[in-house]
Amino acid sequence: MEIIIKPNAAEARLETANLLRRQLDRKSDSVLGLATGSTPIGVYALLVGMHAQDGLDFSRVRTFNLDEYVGLGSDHPCSYRQFMEEHLFGRVNIGVGNIHFPNGLARDITKHCDEYEAAIQKVGGIDLQLLGIGRDGHIGFNEPSSSLASRTRLKTITPQTSADNATCFGGADKVPHHVITMGVGTIMEARQCVLIATGSAKATAVAQMAEGPITADCPASVLQMHPRCQLIVDEESAGRLKRAEYYRWVYDHKPEWQRCGAAPKAVAAGSRS
Ligand code: PGA
Repeated sequence: MEIIIKPNAAEARLETANLLRRQLDRKSDSVLGLATGSTPIGVYALLVGMHAQDGLDFSRVRTFNLDEYVGLGSDHPCSYRQFMEEHLFGRVNIGVGNIHFPNGLARDITKHCDEYEAAIQKVGGIDLQLLGIGRDGHIGFNEPSSSLASRTRLKTITPQTSADNATCFGGADKVPHHVITMGVGTIMEARQCVLIATGSAKATAVAQMAEGPITADCPASVLQMHPRCQLIVDEESAGRLKRAEYYRWVYDHKPEWQRCGAAPKAVAAGSRS
């Protein structure tokens, strides 16, 4: 795992947006796995700016979002589909047919989840998966105890996650208990994972995922097993990392060709991840 510590949240967001931009520059029809939550909002704002100012082109991009609330239609103001519309899809030139989302109103959820997995496979898999992390170490809505091999399925979110996501609903008691989420195993199949965390509330989860044991108690910790994963944090989120100095040193001495998410070379002295 490459751990990139930026001085503040704005620089962490810029690093993340630049990674996504490089991905689209390399492959205009990239398949992106996308995340919701407060953390990626600023990343999406930067991408929207790159689209408006520099013509960053989304016309061939395909997207798969991580999760959706069960019981909410795509037009519900608190649905993650609406979140994405507001922060990205409605502000760039992405084709509506290229957007894939779990359907919170699916009648047969198990069948729908299988179809979502099949749709990812059909486009050749996810090139780059953007992730946030919950205070409890969840990725997507894979709460602690999620199987590290899990696939897209129904999950029940924890009371803490309900509280963290309560704003749009006007109270934790109004947040749906059930969600459809890509599984940990689904996420691990993405060719690249980029997790962004900012703020001191994430410091414990960040330390557990990067330096703790690989355990279903912190589902994000499985990313230690991913061959190409970047963790991008600000100083506050990095506050509990034991080896922060080392990560900074590594980043400062990174070979130029590796900077900002360049594609890995087959053989290169000093190569690492
Ligand atoms: P947040 O959520 O960005 O709103 O903190 C992250 C997550 O739950 O994955």
